[in-house]
Amino acid sequence: MAKQQLQPGTSESGVLQQLRGKHVLITGTTGFLGKVVLEKLIRTVPDIGGIHLLIRGNKRYPGARERFDNEIASSSVFNRLRQDDNEAFENFLEERVHCITGEVTEPHFGLTPERFRSLAGQMDAFINSAASVNFREELDKALKINTLCLENVAALAKLNSTMAVIQVSTCYVNGKNSGQVTESVIKPAGEAIPRSTDGYYEIDELVHLLQDKVADVRSRYSGKMLEKKLVDLGIREANLYGWSDTYTFTKWLGEQLLMKALSGRSLTIVRPAIIESALEEPSPGWIEGVKVADAIILAYARGKVSLFPGKRSGIIDVIPVDLVANSIILSLAETIAEPGQRRIYQCCSGSSNPISLGEFIDHLMAEAKSSYADYDQLFYRKPTKPFIAVNRKLFDVVVGGMRLPLSIAGKALRLAGQNRELKVLKNLDTTRSLATIFGFYTAPDYTFRNDRLMALASRMGELDRVLFPVDARQIDWQLYLRKIHLGGLNRYALNERKLYSLRAAQPRKKAA
Ligand SMILES: NC(=O)c1ccc[n+]([C@@H]2O[C@H](COP(=O)([O-])OP(=O)(O)OC[C@H]3O[C@@H](n4cnc5c(N)ncnc54)[C@H](OP(=O)(O)O)[C@@H]3O)[C@@H](O)[C@H]2O)c1
Repeated sequence: MAKQQLQPGTSESGVLQQLRGKHVLITGTTGFLGKVVLEKLIRTVPDIGGIHLLIRGNKRYPGARERFDNEIASSSVFNRLRQDDNEAFENFLEERVHCITGEVTEPHFGLTPERFRSLAGQMDAFINSAASVNFREELDKALKINTLCLENVAALAKLNSTMAVIQVSTCYVNGKNSGQVTESVIKPAGEAIPRSTDGYYEIDELVHLLQDKVADVRSRYSGKMLEKKLVDLGIREANLYGWSDTYTFTKWLGEQLLMKALSGRSLTIVRPAIIESALEEPSPGWIEGVKVADAIILAYARGKVSLFPGKRSGIIDVIPVDLVANSIILSLAETIAEPGQRRIYQCCSGSSNPISLGEFIDHLMAEAKSSYADYDQLFYRKPTKPFIAVNRKLFDVVVGGMRLPLSIAGKALRLAGQNRELKVLKNLDTTRSLATIFGFYTAPDYTFRNDRLMALASRMGELDRVLFPVDARQIDWQLYLRKIHLGGLNRYALNERKLYSLRAAQPRKKAA
């Protein structure tokens, strides 16, 4: 396939040149990362041919465009664009952003075969950011969105030999492997899975086995019990093959499926580590929702958690969302310019600017102590207890040991007619459930490497390094964690969450 020049010269951006006039289809733009990618493309690549968004309808907004208008275009992620030139922004949305009502998990995305074919013909690239990021998703649901939907993505790409596919994966497909994790195909840390001569793993038989197990569970249970059994099945199977949870297991399966289906075609897998608030763009601290580490920060701020399983010396790999969006855009330009190759990039901080879990906790503690009042949505009062990370065994002994007498005390209170739950018991249960979900991530035994992403950034040249920075060495952890991230959580994640729930609580007008 024709190879174009990636870096045209120092005075022009290779990315802008490659994306000029191009049409890009994106999934996942109702989510956190997808919005930041969309905003950056609109703001920085004004000459792009078209941005096409595959959005599924929901109860409130069955059509993609109305869901886009109400749930995406209204987001604070676009505040900067609106402030700069609202009219130009609205015109761009009108002329260059196209919304397609469809479901990535359905064959042909739920479109007619003709529409699917014509969509394939129109697109130069596809960025797939849709996923279920629920670590403990029911196995069948996780398989559908994180693995099997990639058959539909591959089907689209196969209709257009020049289409560049960017699959957003995660560094945590590494599973329970320890040590240095390079930007390459990951070998499962558990039960063996056959490997092809092309390097990826042959998962067809395994997927059928998992589907049989899902069918068996479905035939025996129903309702809430069925949900629980499907969650348990996912975790059990993930553990067997070497992953801590269903999310990362099914994302790894998805990588294998795509590598096989798009062998010899243009595929780039971009694996971010834990994505957190923006370092700079669209504004420092911008974040949507309460993400992985933030669920623990929030529980601590509300006085619910003070002891957690974790390894203080382990490197906790956090990467700001804007650096991830930039990595996706850089690799998009490269995949278009130099087609027909399979590439893997990791956007992470662990190898180039490591921060240990202990340092991470200490920065947040220090800020909580000195400036809790600046974060009114996060802290309702000054935190009185420290946040202590202990090893898993000690955690289980302490928490297990405390739970029994507390639950006996709770039962005794109820017998005595006091129908109230013990707060300390409730907090202990919050701690235990957060530890079950996130405990693996706070005891890291691996370091993600990003040498190839760094090499890509240097190949792109000076201008693109400035326009699309991806280098985690620019993060000043103290400033980022204490001021930018906590500020962002307070200003965006928690404030907007409150606004949404207030809006949802308002009575809806009856149709006339
Ligand atoms: N957040 C992180 O820390 C992190 C870290 C590493 C990698 N990643 C990867 O980054 C990508 C984006 O993550 P995110 O944090 O932006 O997630 P997010 O905020 O939860 O957004 C998920 C997106 O996926 C879509 N989606 C979920 N289930 C779907 C289904 N069954 N059918 C169609 N669409 C579905 C959602 O659409 P609806 O609104 O219609 O549900 C939404 O647009 C994912 O591929 C994830 O694996 C995330």
